[in-house]
Amino acid sequence: MDVGNNADSNASGSLAATANQPTKIKFQYDEDEEAETIEEVATESSNLDEDSTMCDREESLATGDDKTSADYYFDSYSHFGIHEEMLKDVIRTKTYQNVIYKNSFLFKDKIVLDVGAGTGILSLFCAKAGAKHVYAVECSSMASTAEEIVKLNGYSNVVTVLKGKIEEIELPVAQVDVIISEWMGYFLVYENMLDSVLYARDKWLAKDGIVLPDKASLHLTAIEDADYKEDKIEFWNNVYGFNMSCIRKQAIAEPLVDTVEQNQIVTNCQMLKTMDISKMDSVDASFTAPFKLVAERDDYIHALVAYFDVSFTKCHKLMGFSTGPKSRTTHWKQTVLYLEDVLSICEGETLTGTMAVAPNKKNPRDVDITVKYSLNGKHCQVSRTQHYRMR
Ligand SMILES: C[S@@+](CC[C@H](N)C(=O)[O-])C[C@H]1O[C@@H](n2cnc3c(N)ncnc32)[C@H](O)[C@@H]1O
Repeated sequence: MDVGNNADSNASGSLAATANQPTKIKFQYDEDEEAETIEEVATESSNLDEDSTMCDREESLATGDDKTSADYYFDSYSHFGIHEEMLKDVIRTKTYQNVIYKNSFLFKDKIVLDVGAGTGILSLFCAKAGAKHVYAVECSSMASTAEEIVKLNGYSNVVTVLKGKIEEIELPVAQVDVIISEWMGYFLVYENMLDSVLYARDKWLAKDGIVLPDKASLHLTAIEDADYKEDKIEFWNNVYGFNMSCIRKQAIAEPLVDTVEQNQIVTNCQMLKTMDISKMDSVDASFTAPFKLVAERDDYIHALVAYFDVSFTKCHKLMGFSTGPKSRTTHWKQTVLYLEDVLSICEGETLTGTMAVAPNKKNPRDVDITVKYSLNGKHCQVSRTQHYRMR
């Protein structure tokens, strides 16, 4: 899942990011006439009924218990809502379930470590598949709920829930045979939970042990997206007659998590980076990769789109899933990076460049992305560098 901005390291969760990530719902309004006078503007009413009252903001943010929305924002994995979203992502959860149930030979009589157990779902799958013991490590307060769930389902003798950060807990065993985790964030590396999995691997994984999933790759393509770029980026150029283009700068620097329609894709899809979770070093999650996207039709390009695939290569047969626009949508959707230029590209022409990805130095859960692109086409010659930050 995602993680919220400046939250501390265990305060990740897509509650935060989804709040920043609008979906493509557009309101209908009459845009053909610009109001010329103050009076004309003023006649447009708000949507408040006469007897409706503005509720107190503090009160509206308060939740049923003694936690506020802010608490949830900064510790969103403690709230069941984010787990509901992940569990209901059938592509995600069913893939893990199939990997575990259809490959019980990987788990039978094995010691398993579940890094970031959440509700304990992956631990329960492993227990059901015959694991000897599962250590379910969860840093948020969902840990106590996971413990309750394990008990409710009669697996307390097999699954031990440990509350704490993987980097700080003590495991009652020296080694584990299997490390399982669902650590992927938006744009694959947003949230930086991969580091925690690598930490666990280096500390506890037996020499012949396995990490699941063990492969992840980041991919790139380019899309036509005139309407939405207009709505989300150019909107700031003229807001009720005022120039707010300083916000446009912020908006374009923030990658947008959203679903992309297949018919928007203008070029081929290219793999940018592949990671072997069983071998890689944490610094390998920072990289610069070249790209060469070839136009498959004459069209305009407004944005680059990144997505990831994960795979479990230790299974009987290769298993995994894709979060790409040509596959069934997952809760990760895709990550859209709007370009400053509108590129007019002809079939066969290539958009070339590099993408550099690294955790933000101040807040390593954020991701800094630098894209250099150039097009030397029949109708369009352009070369530019753009900086983005996922927060
Ligand atoms: C993406 S969720 C996955 C939850 C669960 N495994 C599932 O598949 O539904 C990641 C979980 O890892 C936890 N987490 C993140 N970093 C952690 C760390 N360093 N130590 C322990 N838990 C962590 C989060 O609180 C969150 O519940």
